[in-house]
Amino acid sequence: MKIAVVGTGYVGLVTGTCFAETGNQVICVDIDENKIGRLNKGEIPIYEPGLDVLFDRNVAEGRLKFTTNLAEGIKEAQIIFLALPTPPGEDGSADLKYILKVADDLGPLLERYAVIVDKSTVPVGTAEKVRAAIAKSAKVEFDVVSNPEFLREGVAVEDFMKPDRVVVGTNSSKAQKTMEKLYAPLVRQGNPVIFMDERSAEMTKYAANSFLAMKITFMNEIANLCERVGANVDDIRRGIGTDSRIGKRFLFAGIGYGGSCFPKDVQALAKTSRDYDYDFRILNSVMAVNEDQKKRLMPLVQDYFEGELKDKTIAVWGLAFKPYTDDIREAPALENIKALLSAGAKVTVYDPEAMDNVKRILGDQVTFCHTPYAALDDADALMIFTEWPQFRTPDFEKMDKLMKNKVVFDGRNLYELDVMREMGYTYYSIGREA
Ligand code: UGA
Repeated sequence: MKIAVVGTGYVGLVTGTCFAETGNQVICVDIDENKIGRLNKGEIPIYEPGLDVLFDRNVAEGRLKFTTNLAEGIKEAQIIFLALPTPPGEDGSADLKYILKVADDLGPLLERYAVIVDKSTVPVGTAEKVRAAIAKSAKVEFDVVSNPEFLREGVAVEDFMKPDRVVVGTNSSKAQKTMEKLYAPLVRQGNPVIFMDERSAEMTKYAANSFLAMKITFMNEIANLCERVGANVDDIRRGIGTDSRIGKRFLFAGIGYGGSCFPKDVQALAKTSRDYDYDFRILNSVMAVNEDQKKRLMPLVQDYFEGELKDKTIAVWGLAFKPYTDDIREAPALENIKALLSAGAKVTVYDPEAMDNVKRILGDQVTFCHTPYAALDDADALMIFTEWPQFRTPDFEKMDKLMKNKVVFDGRNLYELDVMREMGYTYYSIGREA
């Protein structure tokens, strides 16, 4: 099939590349000339494991192309994906200006029937708005469907190629057939394409992300209580996760969820609820608890150093909001580093992917190190914010020699308590005995 993808951000680029991989002709469109220039030179502007192989193959085989010209990009498209940003406004609602602008532009350009697909996470009712915007000037028949994405950064290619499910919202049987054909190669293992109306599809995305954020937050509160009652949250996780009604995944307590999706989507669903005069109380608690959770380790650090962080060197491992990404949006590390700096501490940091992004924000306020061990040189303590695999089994003896004190504040529960105890570390983690 011939596909256009408007917006070459994270979602658009993964969508375009993966649909090229399943044999379609894909043109990605973006107004950012610099980005399209880089893509045309074979440079991928985001870090996503596995994307480069598919990208290179499909560009080389002529199935994946890039342009800044919307008319040219959509000329022959049977399906047009809108993968545009929906940044949160001050009140938490998703700003639709980019999507509606493209919808306005699309109307007069459509030359034949096309299915226009909302891929971005958009509030209930957006498909109707997009349809109305296109209809103002369209001369041909078209359908607008909602097809939310469930990709996780860092494993997006795998999530795309082997989805648990695909959700498509449409009342048009013609659009349904087109979407069935498009997704057929991806759902061969029996995972379904679930068709529903547009509003339900739009709501499904917010419900999924908010549920997961709630699941994590619930475990974070259990962890906080575990610390008080003297229980171990890791055991609780194993004890409840084996119940298939609860499930093993997304039960890891930690320093709070971050990233570009959960915080934004929970906020947006709360806003939608308010707009419809409904007080979604659980969501309000999820947001409040997560804000506190991100600050969870700082009082322990303050207590350990008896409020005197001036001239102390704190090493930080992990800046990205999670492993396998360079994304630092809403990352707990940033907030904590700022708190350390304002308490007068010297901060040395290491992250395998995210240091350039942090450099743009913090400049030379912190020392960027090329290895995790370099960050430990003369450090008074280590704080861990991201569970990169390389942090899981460090050379503790080497750490000993480098650090001034054997103290670790671990926001991701990477180490066994008894191992740390045996090695003589003072070890603080989340939801486990200190
Ligand atoms: C999330 C969803 O998982 C995707 O399904 C969805 O498509 C995506 O948002 C989106 O809306 O675009 P993502 O934000 O990439 O994906 O990252 P996750 O892997 O879901 O992690 C989110 C946050 O939760 C991270 O800060 C992570 O550290 C935290 N987390 C996750 C925990 O604290 N504990 C867990 O057990 C799992």
